[in-house]
Amino acid sequence: MPKLASSLNNVYNKSLDSLAPSGIRSFDKKISNIDGIIKLTIGEPDLNTPEHVKKAGADSIMNNDSHYATQTGKPELRDAISNYLNKMHNLNYDAESEVVVTVGATEAIYAAFQTILNKGDKVIVPTPTFALYFPIIKILGATPIKVDTSDNDFVLSPEKLKETLDKEGSSVKAVLLNYPGNPTGVEYSKDDLQKLANVIKERKLFVVSDEIYSDITYNVKHYSIAEMLPEQTLYISGLSKSHAMTGYRVGYICGPSPIIKKLSMVHAFLVTATTNSAQIAAAEALKNGMQDPVEMTKIYQKRRDICKRD
Ligand SMILES: Cc1ncc(COP(=O)(O)O)c(C=O)c1O
Repeated sequence: MPKLASSLNNVYNKSLDSLAPSGIRSFDKKISNIDGIIKLTIGEPDLNTPEHVKKAGADSIMNNDSHYATQTGKPELRDAISNYLNKMHNLNYDAESEVVVTVGATEAIYAAFQTILNKGDKVIVPTPTFALYFPIIKILGATPIKVDTSDNDFVLSPEKLKETLDKEGSSVKAVLLNYPGNPTGVEYSKDDLQKLANVIKERKLFVVSDEIYSDITYNVKHYSIAEMLPEQTLYISGLSKSHAMTGYRVGYICGPSPIIKKLSMVHAFLVTATTNSAQIAAAEALKNGMQDPVEMTKIYQKRRDICKRD
């Protein structure tokens, strides 16, 4: 086992000193061996990936689909994403210039922040929220500005956003939104989003909108802020939750072409491209599996209702 040279003990990116390993992951590891436990730790669907999706992925391997894919993603998958977002969420993205396929939404979040932030910048993050945003922002030398939403049913109000923007000044470069929210499950209404969009459109600000749970909602329609403010939004989603494909690692990010062009470089230098078979499986899921999340949601809702308070 190699021992690190003592001269290298202090040679590393010092922004790592402000980070800690993921608490939810270590808790998950600690309790995973308890017999019969129902884990509500990481966002991991316990349903299987649909058969037609698995078959498409397997066929891609057997058909020797083994060469480097286009860096921004296979054209058939980018087309499928563009069509899916149009049909499901009324969004209009050009598959060629406004969509990048990433290694899960995780890479999309990283690439988004690396593309728009410089050292010393700030990002508004409504809390409580998914823990991953904080280390990514910090590792890039930027600062997350937490805004507690617990006094407003876990929804960021336009008043609080405005107040925070006025206080923090022009170093705020982005507002992070995650809805339906992890861990609160809270959905933003069309009106909530329109009011936030009205505040944001007056400023030099990006919205990084993580909508990975958008296809799993219980009796409410999902709206995207990208519909109201496409010119300032980086829209992030993926297949992990909608089609129970966490291990495939397929996500995507969409936005105006000039910023997507810059982001494509970050993505290409980091990973080149997402795995071919996973991309083909994802294309099948989005083209022919629009009903899959609907069926899965029925199962989740039945379970949720068992635990629901009246
Ligand atoms: C809100 C949120 N965003 C992003 C992710 C990461 O998703 P992916 O598996 O696509 O990287 C998760 C995973 O739990 C999540 O809960």
